[in-house]
Amino acid sequence: MNEHVAVLRSLREVWAAKAEGRPISMLTAYDAGFAQQAVQAGVDFLLVGDSLGMVVQGGRDTLGVTIEDMVYHTRLVRRGAPTSLVMADMPFLSDTSPDAAFVHAGALMRAGADIVKIEGGAAKADLIASLTEAGIPVCAHIGLLPQRVRQLGGYRVQGRSEEDAARILTDARALVDAGAAMLLIECVPSGLAERITRQASVPVIGIGAGQGVDGQVLVLQDVLGMNPNPPRFVRDFLRGRGSIVEALAAYVSAVQSRQFPAEHESYA
Ligand code: KIV
Repeated sequence: MNEHVAVLRSLREVWAAKAEGRPISMLTAYDAGFAQQAVQAGVDFLLVGDSLGMVVQGGRDTLGVTIEDMVYHTRLVRRGAPTSLVMADMPFLSDTSPDAAFVHAGALMRAGADIVKIEGGAAKADLIASLTEAGIPVCAHIGLLPQRVRQLGGYRVQGRSEEDAARILTDARALVDAGAAMLLIECVPSGLAERITRQASVPVIGIGAGQGVDGQVLVLQDVLGMNPNPPRFVRDFLRGRGSIVEALAAYVSAVQSRQFPAEHESYA
């Protein structure tokens, strides 16, 4: 599946993909079996997301996920995808002090992650600089921060007002300056995501962020049509297809040809 496009194998290749304008496909995975399916489909990057708290554990949000959960699932994904790029989420409150962050990020790297993802804005810049300095690549997650869902009062599009958009742009700049190896931006208007992507020297992956980013990520279960209330930016790639691998390959192909997301799957 998708054998004609070489899968990215290192962060260096991911950075080169941005420079070449070659879209990056990322998909969540939580176990070895689905990781293998994603590999067969030609997915570039697997994200062991703390979304597992919802789609695997059945929780109402991601706040119940522990570092032990993340280490366990990262290990499973690495087992199923020995040569793929794997990103692992730092779960809720796992980075409240530099010491805790080092222990937890280290555990994820030892479990097989190539890079860890941390939710938060400019306030996380010093922490990201320290982890990067120690050899732990970090993807900074900005825009909608699911770990703050209680504070935000729900999963809402971020950056709609000028003030909020300016804050997210400032966050992005501070995090890249601090050494973030990648950015992931969730649920913001397409124009804002495009501005951030143009300014950022590192790859920007979007979810609900439109077409003007360097790559896309979706939650595996959403791609497979398992979400009874899918948000606007989700497409069911299994519909009309005969197997999971075919559905995942269709997702990869739609990302690479920039046919996903369409305008109606983005926020104006
Ligand atoms: O946990 C997750 O799956 C994520 C995606 C929503 C990007 O962070």
